[in-house]
Amino acid sequence: MKDTPQTSSLTQADTPVGTTPGYMPGFGNDFETEALPGALPQGMNSPQKCNYGLYGEQLSGTAFTADPPERTWTYRIRPSVKHSHRYTRIDLPNWKSAPNVDPDVVSLGQYRWDPLPHGAEHTWLTGMHTMTTAGDVNTQIGMASHIYLVTESMVDEYFFSADSELLVVPQEGRLRFATELGIIDLEPKEIAIIPRGLVYRVEVLEGPCRGFVCENYGQKFELPGRGPIGANCLANPRDFKAPVAAFEDREVPSTVTVKWCGQFHRTEIGQSPLDVVAWHGNYTPYKYDMRNYCPVGAILFDHPDPSIFTVLTAPSGVPGTANIDFVLFRERWMVAEDTFRPPWYHKNIMSELMGNIYGQYDAKPKGFVPGGMSLHNMMLPHGPDRNAFEGASNAELKAEKLDNTMSFMFETRFPQHLTAFAAKEAPLQDDYIDCWTSLEKKFDGTPGRK
Ligand SMILES: [Fe+2]
Repeated sequence: MKDTPQTSSLTQADTPVGTTPGYMPGFGNDFETEALPGALPQGMNSPQKCNYGLYGEQLSGTAFTADPPERTWTYRIRPSVKHSHRYTRIDLPNWKSAPNVDPDVVSLGQYRWDPLPHGAEHTWLTGMHTMTTAGDVNTQIGMASHIYLVTESMVDEYFFSADSELLVVPQEGRLRFATELGIIDLEPKEIAIIPRGLVYRVEVLEGPCRGFVCENYGQKFELPGRGPIGANCLANPRDFKAPVAAFEDREVPSTVTVKWCGQFHRTEIGQSPLDVVAWHGNYTPYKYDMRNYCPVGAILFDHPDPSIFTVLTAPSGVPGTANIDFVLFRERWMVAEDTFRPPWYHKNIMSELMGNIYGQYDAKPKGFVPGGMSLHNMMLPHGPDRNAFEGASNAELKAEKLDNTMSFMFETRFPQHLTAFAAKEAPLQDDYIDCWTSLEKKFDGTPGRK
């Protein structure tokens, strides 16, 4: 008598790459994807001849001996050497790299900016306006913060940064990153990571576009250690999405711009470099929807350090001391008893650059507006303004939903230096420092006074 396998009663999923069309879920997974059937070699990386006449090529994002190595095998129409001819230096005057210390600029201070206004037409490359730099791009340490203003798509124009991975935080408009490894569409409330060395072009889906970029010169962003929090909450790995393979076979005059040691260079080629038909590996671009971030906080009294809201961290050589932390302040419930609930006054060895994506930030009811940015540099005191202090000190402490708010922080262990653009051309709020002026002395020696 023939057995019927019990598995015949199981209904099997038919979407092995996940539930978001065009993307594969998971942080740092070893993905595999092919845009044409059979394009991806099975069981090996470098067959004597690849299917479809493709070229096999590895993109290494870490040293060969790093543990674990991060690399991706690509199977492409032409090897990348065909997308890289002689280079000519070009100038992108708005995009600066560390070290960029301007003797005429005072970086020591608490600074805040209104949103950069839209004005001239810009692509992703010309629209990158550097606000601060930290560390040294030549030694792969530190970061830069930028605000992008983009109105125009790149056409037959491609880019990669050998200096950095880019963390992109859109605030207005929708962008498409057409990369060698696939397509990422990005809108406000999402972030994207574009890894070092990956070739891409940026198209405007809905403009004008404005947002923030953290350019990470150092080790890649990773998920923070969870410690006693355990396996759940914060940013969950499944919510990070890498694109499926996508390629084009277009033979048109094109340019590739390369950022390398803080300088820009351009080469001319005869085709699109987005010609990867299939790939596998763990060195990929990805995006993350910050509406999926599950904040953890105080549920009885007091106030944890802002690191409790870390989404991604880029380590430095010192354990626990990040080259960059990306920290998210989003909607959440405030329930702590007998507690001053906004962020407390403090000084920090880390330098804190904040941006507002939408809504109102709890420590600054006014002045820190969507699209705006603030900087509290290394060891400079800051904290709630008078309105926030008085409001939070006298509020009836019932459970309260902090709603309609999404701000973030690029926090780095290195001091951040303002560019001349940030100090002299961007809409700096000259009176920001005055937000603390009206804080009163309440102490008069009387016990019990509050
Ligand atoms: Fe702070």
